[in-house]
Amino acid sequence: MDNSAKNDPCKVLFVDDEENVLRALSRLFFDEPYEILTAGSGREGLEMLSKNKVAVIISDQKMPEMDGAHFLEAARKISPDSVRMVLTGYADINTAMDAINKGGAYRYITKPWNDNELIMTVRNAVHQYRLVKENIRLTELTKKQNEELKKWSDELEYFVQQQTIDLTRQNQELQDAIGKVQSQMRAFITSISNLIELRNRSVSSHSNTVAMLSSEIAIKAGLSDSEVKTIEIAAQLHDIGKIGVSDVVLSKKIEELSENEKEDYRKHPVRGQSTVDGIEELRDAGILIRHHHEYFNGSGFPDGLKEDDIPIGSRIVSIADAFDQLYLPDSGLSGFEKTMEKMKLLSGIRFDPFYLHIAESAIEKKADIFIQQGRTFEAELNPSELRAGMVVSRDVRSGTGLLFISKGMTLDAGNVAAIRRCYDVDPSTSGVYVILEKA
Ligand SMILES: [Fe+2]
Ligand SMILES: [Fe+2]
Repeated sequence: MDNSAKNDPCKVLFVDDEENVLRALSRLFFDEPYEILTAGSGREGLEMLSKNKVAVIISDQKMPEMDGAHFLEAARKISPDSVRMVLTGYADINTAMDAINKGGAYRYITKPWNDNELIMTVRNAVHQYRLVKENIRLTELTKKQNEELKKWSDELEYFVQQQTIDLTRQNQELQDAIGKVQSQMRAFITSISNLIELRNRSVSSHSNTVAMLSSEIAIKAGLSDSEVKTIEIAAQLHDIGKIGVSDVVLSKKIEELSENEKEDYRKHPVRGQSTVDGIEELRDAGILIRHHHEYFNGSGFPDGLKEDDIPIGSRIVSIADAFDQLYLPDSGLSGFEKTMEKMKLLSGIRFDPFYLHIAESAIEKKADIFIQQGRTFEAELNPSELRAGMVVSRDVRSGTGLLFISKGMTLDAGNVAAIRRCYDVDPSTSGVYVILEKA
């Protein structure tokens, strides 16, 4: 209940054409906490109602000009929340019912009235009036609060939507940036490994081959995607430390090296690790690079690690590295088998028997590529020079980096036409790399 309702005395209006009745009623309610209004006729009563907020209206039924029923009916229109009652003699009960029906009277009080009863009746009526008013106030308050709540909820929803849109956009930007960094890193790794091979032309494409075989073995061994990726990077860069080894040493076979030269050569795994160690993303690969010349029996270098102390990735790169060095191009399938036989002799000595066994089937899968490598070479062609039947040796990507055709695919006429269209729409800066037969 608001303070104005508490502090403001409720108004009670008595309407009667008899002056002495009005006086008696005023006296009766003198000690009650109400403001008493009196009117000598219905017309006067309506006038008062239009100027005052009245809680309770008690009207005589029998009045000249306008009787109680008509007065209450009109009063209801002016002040619908007021509690209305009619005073009537015993003989006029029927007309009192009329007042109840027409004027919406709360009840009738018979004349002569019982003072205490009348006071109690008015108190109850005032109480009811206050309850009704309070109910209206609370309903309005609830409605207002609901509207505010709805407004807040709408604003919150809008805010959350905006935040979600912003976060999605930021996330996309972050993903794009990460993708860009990753592709730059891949390009960097490829450039570095090309550099290694430029340094020592006798090992042309060695890094690519070791990377391809290592990842094949790692996949077959059931390693996780991230482990396979790290192993592939380590394999691609495993001989990066050879950049610091002298030309004389690099041009000789291992068995022809003097002790000093051997020492120089044996530094390349550690140099390789320290070269990439400054790049956080390559640090794990650096550890694998360091140990790619460890032997399973502990007689390798640089740290003489043995068995399970050698990182798995290093054990795998060691196998792939040795295979590519031992395999003789142009030797065909028998050369592939002979190479594996030679390596098996070193199982448990140089190579981990478990991964060597896995490597045999993994490398066999790639045998065709090896056999082809003996008779073939890689060439960069314009799309117009492509022919059906050619084998693509590197991924074909559009200018914006979209993977179009994966390496290893044999082109048909449809692929050739599609690549030409792709180069028209989104041209790449390089040509298409394919395997061609040596003349
Ligand atoms: Fe090496
Ligand atoms: Fe190597």
